[in-house]
Amino acid sequence: MNRRLGVLISGRGSNLQALVDAIGDRRLDATIAVVISNRADAHGLGHARRAGIEALCLDHREARSRDEHDRSVARELQDRDVGLVCLAGYMRLVGAPLLKAFPDAILNIHPSLLPAFPGIDAPRQALGHGVKVTGVTVHFVTAELDNGPIVIQRTVPVMRDDTPDTLSARILAEEHRAYAEAVATVLDGGWRIEGRRFIVP
Ligand code: GAR
Repeated sequence: MNRRLGVLISGRGSNLQALVDAIGDRRLDATIAVVISNRADAHGLGHARRAGIEALCLDHREARSRDEHDRSVARELQDRDVGLVCLAGYMRLVGAPLLKAFPDAILNIHPSLLPAFPGIDAPRQALGHGVKVTGVTVHFVTAELDNGPIVIQRTVPVMRDDTPDTLSARILAEEHRAYAEAVATVLDGGWRIEGRRFIVP
């Protein structure tokens, strides 16, 4: 797998910034070839441009269909010879055109221990459910939301006085460490996927 990353975002972009920082600190041997947002107002586009990374907006509302939007995203990534796609707060389901263009080469980060609490507001879901431990999952992307073989998980304890904001902040700090580590593991290769299992010998 080549070490050129394409990062897809929809908003704040703190996980994108964490990848930029990990590359800068040499914890992650990779290059971010392009950042693509589906929203023009995503703050992450600014993080990318300040780091000298090409940043594009492909607004899904301007595409005629979900597939057409996914084809445009895939084309921009392929034009830049991207080897691994990293979703970083990309709040869209990934459809067949993008999955086919990057088989076993799209990662997502999610703020819970999947399969618990998929979808939006995972920290709030965790608090509402009353779990005592939650965490972070980095997984390969499939057609199903927040599903796919798990690369790494990290736990985050839930404190008695946590609010959605305090819990989210601790989970996010763990996400920032975990994403760079998971991307490095995948780029290093030597792994295989058996069923749902990601196996590093
Ligand atoms: C992160 O917590 C990420 O795990 C979550 O969105 C946030 C984006 O923050 N993603 C999902 O919930 C995906 N289902 P960021 O824009 O600051 O990286």
